[in-house]
Amino acid sequence: MAKVLIVYYSRSGNTESLAAAIAKAVAAEGVDVACKKVKDVDLDELLEVDGLIVGSPTYYGTMAAEIKRLLDDSIRHHRKLDGKVGAAFASAAASGQETTVFSILEALLIHGMIVQGDPKGHHYGVTSVGAPDGQVLEDCGRFGQRFAALVKQITGK
Ligand SMILES: Cc1cc2nc3c(=O)[nH]c(=O)nc-3n(C[C@H](O)[C@H](O)[C@H](O)COP(=O)(O)O)c2cc1C
Repeated sequence: MAKVLIVYYSRSGNTESLAAAIAKAVAAEGVDVACKKVKDVDLDELLEVDGLIVGSPTYYGTMAAEIKRLLDDSIRHHRKLDGKVGAAFASAAASGQETTVFSILEALLIHGMIVQGDPKGHHYGVTSVGAPDGQVLEDCGRFGQRFAALVKQITGK
């Protein structure tokens, strides 16, 4: 069975709600998924998964420091994450959510990870402004389903 790790930071729960909806959709595709707060993630877990999804609130147009710390520390596994599937999601109060997604994707791409865009809806990664509403939670379902499908296709698991 393919394995996916969702890692997120959330202070007031918005990013956490996105993470939970994405995890539900990934699991529905028959993929083994763990959904963890960044403080509970051991760096070596990144080696064990086929796909990594990273989520953050928008802080001044970029990822929160807690997520940046994880990504900076991930240099320990530089070159070892090459070819895994990656994706990012973010929440904001007003705007900057897409630059936040990109700030995360930059690191995942430097690791050599495979990132799929979406020709419909959220092109770069699912995002919310404020608490996710019903539409955004539905969008999380599409995002998680597409991610799981790609992981299964690439791994053949
Ligand atoms: C330090 C800090 C910086 C923030 N910067 C922005 C910002 O640049 N743009 C924005 O729209 N919201 C900004 N916000 C609001 C959060 O991104 C927003 O409330 C988000 O949904 C919180 O996610 P959470 O509930 O997962 O913690 C900021 C919040 C904090 C605490």
